[in-house]
Amino acid sequence: MSSSAQQSVTLIGLGPMGLAMAEALLDRGYAVTLWNRTASRADDLVARGAFLASSPAAAVAANEVVILSLTDYAAVDAVLEPAASALKGRVLVNLTSATPEEARAGSRLAAERGAAQLTGGVNSAPSGIGQPESSTFYSGPREVFDRHRPVLEALTGQVDHRGEDPGLAALLYQIGVGMFWTSMLGYWQAVALARANGLTAADILPTARETADTLSQLSAFYAERIDAGVHVGDVDRLAMGMASVEHVLRTNADVGVDTALPAAVVDLFRRGMDAGHGADSFSSLVDVMGKPGK
Ligand SMILES: NC(=O)c1ccc[n+]([C@@H]2O[C@H](COP(=O)([O-])OP(=O)(O)OC[C@H]3O[C@@H](n4cnc5c(N)ncnc54)[C@H](OP(=O)(O)O)[C@@H]3O)[C@@H](O)[C@H]2O)c1
Repeated sequence: MSSSAQQSVTLIGLGPMGLAMAEALLDRGYAVTLWNRTASRADDLVARGAFLASSPAAAVAANEVVILSLTDYAAVDAVLEPAASALKGRVLVNLTSATPEEARAGSRLAAERGAAQLTGGVNSAPSGIGQPESSTFYSGPREVFDRHRPVLEALTGQVDHRGEDPGLAALLYQIGVGMFWTSMLGYWQAVALARANGLTAADILPTARETADTLSQLSAFYAERIDAGVHVGDVDRLAMGMASVEHVLRTNADVGVDTALPAAVVDLFRRGMDAGHGADSFSSLVDVMGKPGK
């Protein structure tokens, strides 16, 4: 801790994620300058020794490394616009959710103002921040990542650099988050169906866990085949899947559970059938949903 005691960073944004990051930095002996639109959210951190800047420009001017943990890039623009003249020579560690294009545009704007941006995707809930098993992937200038690795590791134990394109980390983040939201909705649907049948969420936990494990294994199995363009129906066939997803839809409808999600699944399977993939694996739906880019 003594080696990092002299280091100081700026952190802008004190939602649940920013608060957890500020705590982690203080725990590791960093001097932390904060700014948040709602200043009172910094009270406990100031009591722990953090410094609250009077404006975004003062916060940016205070340190070379400026961590941004905001709701979206509209918030990033709102915060950085009045701080534009203070950005020269700064390293923006932008952990704000964004589309890849927004991250690239933000990175270009930062460069025009003399700052470098690392885009980050945090693979952790706020409760995991600062823990050795938590991780964040970054993209942007490799040399900047290497130079500032210690502070990045102070936020999440594991960090890795995925590429120079500042949009890449945003893309990978949205891919993961997209899977997360749709999978969790699948789980909420399962719980709603269980409850409509007199079962609790705890009752179906073993089934939910087995299904999540299966998803993990099948991701690896299908990745190889999909990349090779192979959708042979030797393990599963879309026509079998079509019958199965209709059973799921009817099981929900029979007990009055919302059918928006299972109906959307049936619709996708039907489009695959209409495209002539009935005898292929249901992985052929990947080609129905979007053609490969390369
Ligand atoms: N929470 C999670 O589990 C999680 C996990 C991984 C990644 N992330 C990502 O990490 C980022 C931060 O997450 P969070 O949960 O802390 O988000 P959040 O609750 O949305 O907090 C966002 C922060 O943005 C500020 N903000 C929003 N609009 C603003 C504006 N127009 N001008 C100035 N400040 C503005 C808020 O200020 P006020 O306090 O004044 O409202 C707050 O400090 C998000 O991009 C999120 O997608 C979150």
